[in-house]
Amino acid sequence: MNKKKNNDRASSFPDGFTWGAATAAYQIEGAWDEDGKGESIWDRFSHTPGMIVNEETGDVATDHYHRWSQDVGLMKEMGIMAYRFSIAWARVLPMGRGNVNRAGLDFYNRLVDALLEANIEPFVTLYHWDLPQQLQEEGGWPERRVTTAFVEYADLVSRSLGDRVRHWMTLNEPHVSAFVGYLDGQHAPGHTDLHEALAASHHLLLAHALAVPVIRANCPDARVGIALDYRPQTPASPSAADRIAAWHAGGVINRWFLDPLTGRGYPEDMRRAYHDEMIFIQPGDLDKIAAPLDFLGLNYYFRNIARSNVIDEAENSPRTVVPNDEFTEMGWEVYPQGMYEMLGQVHFGYGFPAYYITENGAAIRDQVGPDGQVEDPLRVAYIRRHLKKVLEAIAIGVPVQGYFVWSLLDNFEWNSGTSRRFGLIHVDYHTQQRTPKASAKWYQQVIGENAIV
Ligand code: FCB
Repeated sequence: MNKKKNNDRASSFPDGFTWGAATAAYQIEGAWDEDGKGESIWDRFSHTPGMIVNEETGDVATDHYHRWSQDVGLMKEMGIMAYRFSIAWARVLPMGRGNVNRAGLDFYNRLVDALLEANIEPFVTLYHWDLPQQLQEEGGWPERRVTTAFVEYADLVSRSLGDRVRHWMTLNEPHVSAFVGYLDGQHAPGHTDLHEALAASHHLLLAHALAVPVIRANCPDARVGIALDYRPQTPASPSAADRIAAWHAGGVINRWFLDPLTGRGYPEDMRRAYHDEMIFIQPGDLDKIAAPLDFLGLNYYFRNIARSNVIDEAENSPRTVVPNDEFTEMGWEVYPQGMYEMLGQVHFGYGFPAYYITENGAAIRDQVGPDGQVEDPLRVAYIRRHLKKVLEAIAIGVPVQGYFVWSLLDNFEWNSGTSRRFGLIHVDYHTQQRTPKASAKWYQQVIGENAIV
């Protein structure tokens, strides 16, 4: 333990700060068709040739469905205080609604019990991208009826786990579900249709809104939130055109979700830019979507440098901002200052009562060394620098209550498959052997001291 740092008040977090790690069901569980689980859109997508690097699938992933007990033990050793994980909707409702799969519910019941036993607080995400395939057959997120299925699902899970789980997130990154899944086609279900993406985003927010009171009813002391991906925007030059480009890019990813969640409706400039009647919005929807939340989860990885493509490069001001030269294995710029920008912009622009950093972390090319250790100094440096910015945001008055590393374990990184390693714990995909990396030991010290070490 580094006693010297312990006394350094500048690197200490507020008392009661929650230190956690995060995962998502499809990325770790495997057991894609075991014990009555239904097919999800990610099962279908990963089984479709050409969608995932090296034609990998999440069929086995990190086999957490069978190794959950060991994984809880590893968290306990690390001193992890809270574990953010998601429920696989099709594991508990194989067809999305209707028949309940008891074996699936039992799995999460056992997991929650084991976490509590280990003194680890469960933070549940209901939807981390794995829609039951049956609901996609009915039209998926672009169709309004998916929202009633989501409410049924939220009701079932919060009734089953609500006596023990206090922290709930309805959705993870609805922007990615809607726009990467239904417009870019890079994620399940792989569609490329703007109208579908817009309708999906509205139905995701509506499903969230309809589920919030249901969770609260089933779990009276629940704290309910949503986890958004936020991307700070830096204009590439001081030109008006680049500043407008930054505003627009922030509209796509940030304002499109934050504005309706805080009672402002969908941003007018974006509605005009999308040129869509948005006839799927029904009276009353926006009021429901604006219902107050207990906290906002924010996932931060990188910023966007916005350059106008509306005017000629020659007519624009010269670029004054270029990415700094550090990138993770995802090709994402390392930009810790963005953590501070995000927290300041969201809090002073929208004012949620509390925040958790529900994801932050780095993909690094990790290897088990000849001594059996995994040295990952770049991950430690990445997290340390971002934590410093969390502290700076707290110092200016942003009520950040916790931080979750993405990820607890190396896992199936969506369309990149197992080629990107984000874990504090290394996974050998041939043997499923877990090896805590140097960053896990370092994080244990951070937790122990409630300070950046
Ligand atoms: C986020 C996702 C998470 C993981 C990280 C790297 O967008 O929520 O599942 O893939 O990116």
